[in-house]
Amino acid sequence: MRTDGDIAIVGAGYVGLTSAACFCEMGHRVRLVEVNPHRVSQIRAGTCPIYEQGLPELLRRHVGDRLAVYDDLAAATAGARAIFVCVGTPPRASGAPDLGALSGLLSELARLDLDDTVVVLKSTVPPGTNRMVYEALGKQVPVVSNPEFLREGTAVWDFFHPDRVVVGSPDAEAALGVAGLYAGVDAPLLVTGWEEAELIKYATNSFLAIKISFANEMAALCEALGAEAPDVLKGLGLDHRVGAQFLRPGPGYGGSCLPKDIKGLAWRARRAGVKLDLLAAAERANARVRVRLLEKLSRELGGLAGVTVAVWGLAFKAGTDDLRGAASGDLVPRLLEAGARVRAYDPAAGENFAALFPLEEHPGLMIAGDQWEALHGADALLILTEWDAFAAPPLEIRRHLGGRVVVDSRNLLDPDQAASVGLVYRGTGRGRLGRG
Ligand SMILES: NC(=O)c1ccc[n+]([C@@H]2O[C@H](COP(=O)([O-])OP(=O)(O)OC[C@H]3O[C@@H](n4cnc5c(N)ncnc54)[C@H](O)[C@@H]3O)[C@@H](O)[C@H]2O)c1
Repeated sequence: MRTDGDIAIVGAGYVGLTSAACFCEMGHRVRLVEVNPHRVSQIRAGTCPIYEQGLPELLRRHVGDRLAVYDDLAAATAGARAIFVCVGTPPRASGAPDLGALSGLLSELARLDLDDTVVVLKSTVPPGTNRMVYEALGKQVPVVSNPEFLREGTAVWDFFHPDRVVVGSPDAEAALGVAGLYAGVDAPLLVTGWEEAELIKYATNSFLAIKISFANEMAALCEALGAEAPDVLKGLGLDHRVGAQFLRPGPGYGGSCLPKDIKGLAWRARRAGVKLDLLAAAERANARVRVRLLEKLSRELGGLAGVTVAVWGLAFKAGTDDLRGAASGDLVPRLLEAGARVRAYDPAAGENFAALFPLEEHPGLMIAGDQWEALHGADALLILTEWDAFAAPPLEIRRHLGGRVVVDSRNLLDPDQAASVGLVYRGTGRGRLGRG
């Protein structure tokens, strides 16, 4: 691997674009290549195509200077010291990740002269893929697995403050060379083989999904037993062996990674003849959370047919416009199918949602211009995403909402305050006062 030269990054999505901008911020020169022409022109014009805190500023600073944007792979990678692969690996129906974008890229890379370049897989790929890439490139090019752990919404921060940097390859020199590109990032470095690096990524996301499902199952139990899930989960999370993160109940885990990766790991294990019981259980629990939310809403409204439901939050989490795996994508269609009308609002993901569910094909759906407009004439409010603005004063909600029912999957509101202004409030796992 060269010790000088630009870094090439393939795929300007959440991971590729963030990595490109952050590597520039660290002083590297980066060539970013993307197949979507609209995205290429947006980035060249200095416009950030995704909603991600801090990213627009970094792009403004570096595009046209340290960051060059390409639509041609050969030009972008010529003479690069490393080629970071950041293309998508979405799930297929079988649970297997779709490696179509990676395969297409590989056949192009195989035609290029990659002398002294290392190929780095940042995309999440099933164990065995880095080995396959090495073989597909004729065993001539070092291949390093460098899984990415950033979280959408805090991606820029996470890039500079990861819990660890993992580089996996049988070629230790190449692995350390890739690690060197992160010089200045203060995090433990883990040098492993290919399969270990690939598995670290899958194990991490699967474990987080299991943790969330556990929190959601505890919340359901708390509702039945008249206990307060926030107290129980706080007490659990204060145990250092457990840790407090990812123990908040909600509308079920979502996003582009957790649902995909837990399925991907289960699929890979099945192919290897190993049955992993916990993964399937976490998935079942996750699906049940969403059914339970609809049941709660239906119970309070005496059915869903003919009612109007305001939905606050469409993105799978706060701080992003990403709808992949979001509860909204599950629940809004089910509400519409059940005969309800939906008035939805999200500070960042409204446009993406309307593109996914065109309003002309979904006459019962409207995207409101702000959170208060969504409440007008609605019989109930369903809170799905934990945007700060949704932790609104209950009195304000009571004033705008047509009806009185609030189902708060994220526990953003104070149950006592909500009840004191006359709302019929149902949080998640709030069993003590019968408000779960
Ligand atoms: N989004 C996350 O939070 C996150 C976090 C960690 C890891 N990952 C993993 O990183 C990978 C990328 O995820 P993402 O969310 O950034 O995906 P994404 O879909 O947002 O972006 C992928 C980009 O690659 C482009 N692309 C596809 N083929 C290409 C090619 N041959 N040449 C150039 N560009 C090409 C696509 O047009 C798209 O813009 C996935 O494997 C994902 O699992 C994602």
